[in-house]
Amino acid sequence: MILQHDNSVKPFFLSLAPLRGFTNALYRNLYAVHFQGIDTAIAPFINTLSAKQINRSHIKDILPENNHGMSVVPQIIGNDSEGFIQLATMCHDLGFDTVNWNLGCPAPMVANKRRGSGLLPHPESIEAFLDDVLPRIPTRLSIKTRIGRKKKEEIFKLLPIFNQYPLVELIIHPRTGVQMYTGEVDLSTFEECLPLLKIPVTYNGDIHDYDSFVKLRERFKTVSRWLIGRGVLSNPFLPEILRSGEENIPRSVERFKNFHDDLFEAYRAELSGQSHLIDKMKSYWLYFFRSFENGEILFKKIKKISTLKKYEDITGNFLGGDAIWRCSGRPALSIHPSNSACL
Ligand SMILES: Cc1cc2nc3c(=O)[nH]c(=O)nc-3n(C[C@H](O)[C@H](O)[C@H](O)COP(=O)(O)O)c2cc1C
Repeated sequence: MILQHDNSVKPFFLSLAPLRGFTNALYRNLYAVHFQGIDTAIAPFINTLSAKQINRSHIKDILPENNHGMSVVPQIIGNDSEGFIQLATMCHDLGFDTVNWNLGCPAPMVANKRRGSGLLPHPESIEAFLDDVLPRIPTRLSIKTRIGRKKKEEIFKLLPIFNQYPLVELIIHPRTGVQMYTGEVDLSTFEECLPLLKIPVTYNGDIHDYDSFVKLRERFKTVSRWLIGRGVLSNPFLPEILRSGEENIPRSVERFKNFHDDLFEAYRAELSGQSHLIDKMKSYWLYFFRSFENGEILFKKIKKISTLKKYEDITGNFLGGDAIWRCSGRPALSIHPSNSACL
């Protein structure tokens, strides 16, 4: 619940976005131990494969025994309906009642094969896929989409198609695929979509702080579902802040340190070789540093680290001593990850 400027209390539903390489089961489990405010998480995508190739390691991230404390929706990427049906059925057998179809991934390697956002210019393929799949899967279906692959107008051919099906929700990240993560989110196009949709809509994109969230809520009054990715990665207190309206989180550095130390130890147990572990933690610091005063200076040092001893010394000294949380929850820099990542 959140107290709005007009003093009315309105509920909203907050989901953790799938961020491949980051919001995996290991992260989600620890997040649920240390922080609050997320209702559910969409897991990073799983590729459709032929029945012979699917084994438990392929779906390790969503296995119930690997997930504790956070409700999860598996996400599937692919354009072959048989593979999708097999995976969705497997998810159902594991106890999931909903799966999400990824129509947003912009990575050229994915999109050029007409998967993820690569399907968006082909409404007839999307319709045929949904016609084939929906009657044959035992789960419900939600979809995560961008507004187009190359052009924002693509979404308007898709909305009447989505409306034909009993989708749980349509999550819209209002960028095109070719935009990757550059440029602004296209709020006007998102706004135009709203009256055209008969299914529940979730907004996703660039929610980094309380003020940006309040502005979006005020503009899109009919939207009550929100999906947040990099904002949470950078500031894991963000869901608590959005729910309470209170930007000063007591003991934030201490709480963050406890989370960080658990994350580090969990990856130490999972990854073999110190360089894998260091690289993994560096990738998280690409986001973490933004929530600290002088985080840029720290991040420059972290980027140069090549031994675990150095990593533990530098982060330990910082989090145990000098660190000051940017209390507004507002990252100093805009968050645009490298476009080379498979997003
Ligand atoms: C490193 C990274 C990995 C991502 N992995 C996925 C993914 O597996 N599935 C997906 O639908 N979106 C993925 N995305 C997109 C996010 O879920 C989200 O749509 C995007 O980051 C915009 O939301 P945000 O501004 O709140 O981060 C990824 C994004 C990033 C930066």
